[in-house]
Amino acid sequence: REVRVFAPATVANVAVGFDILGFAINRPGDEIVARLNPAFSGVRITAITGTGDKVLPLDTEKNTAGVSAQRLLHHLGQPETGVELEIHKKMPFGSGLGSSAASAAGAAVAVNELLGAPLTREALLYFTVLGEEVADGSFHADNVAPCLVGGITLIRSNDSLDVHHLPVPNGLHVAVVHPEIEILTRDARAVLSDQVPLSVAIRQTGSLASFITALYTNDISLLGRSLHDHMIEPQRKQLITGFDDVKAAALQRGALGCSISGAGPSIFALCDSGYLAQAVGQGMQAAFQQHGVESQLYVSPI
Ligand code: HSE
Repeated sequence: REVRVFAPATVANVAVGFDILGFAINRPGDEIVARLNPAFSGVRITAITGTGDKVLPLDTEKNTAGVSAQRLLHHLGQPETGVELEIHKKMPFGSGLGSSAASAAGAAVAVNELLGAPLTREALLYFTVLGEEVADGSFHADNVAPCLVGGITLIRSNDSLDVHHLPVPNGLHVAVVHPEIEILTRDARAVLSDQVPLSVAIRQTGSLASFITALYTNDISLLGRSLHDHMIEPQRKQLITGFDDVKAAALQRGALGCSISGAGPSIFALCDSGYLAQAVGQGMQAAFQQHGVESQLYVSPI
């Protein structure tokens, strides 16, 4: 028996919700194959493709997909069941697109399906976060939650994994531009100060609260006014060559807002139509090119 799943890329933080907001996009995404194999017990990774010149660990306990699948098997009381995992990477590492989260989520979903789907997608969250933690050393669900359940998700608490689905205004699309720069989440977290000035906290909580209000009231204008990151973007943007010009290009072409996708270097811009998102994305790519940086554009409904 074999199960094959697609695990989509995700945009975490969404400017206003560091570690607590994220949404899924329709491509790129990883493909995970899980297969029962009675010849051994536990999870074995039998193939990893699409990693280019990078080497991902085949050791189950060092691999995000392996850890997620293994913890799930144990939780289900089936540590003796033998499962082969194939990981087909279809998105770059260190891209800010939730690559490690996608592999961890895909593995949990595939193994759950293989065993007759005893758990809901929501219940798979815990094992998936444990898997992603292996890659970036921190326990946060802002990539894995939208990857598992789709749409925009809010994480009230990363400790108790209290996750909520948020409504999406009509026609909302995103342009995500991935420049050929690699930033590891670990490194992008290391540049952050652990202190937030009160004035910044006030602006950021105002932005977050009004962004959520805009989603619930379908208020595109308020959404645009809310989409500002006062807290994290100023500390991380210097890691991304050309960031200010790329953002300016997006806003000039009519994006509602623009910021860093996850830990970067990808940059996302929300737009009120797919047509606009395409034009905005091309403008962002041209701005990167001015800095000698090639990039890949993904346009997706949310
Ligand atoms: N919220 C995380 C961060 C997402 O920005 O560091 C990347 O894993």
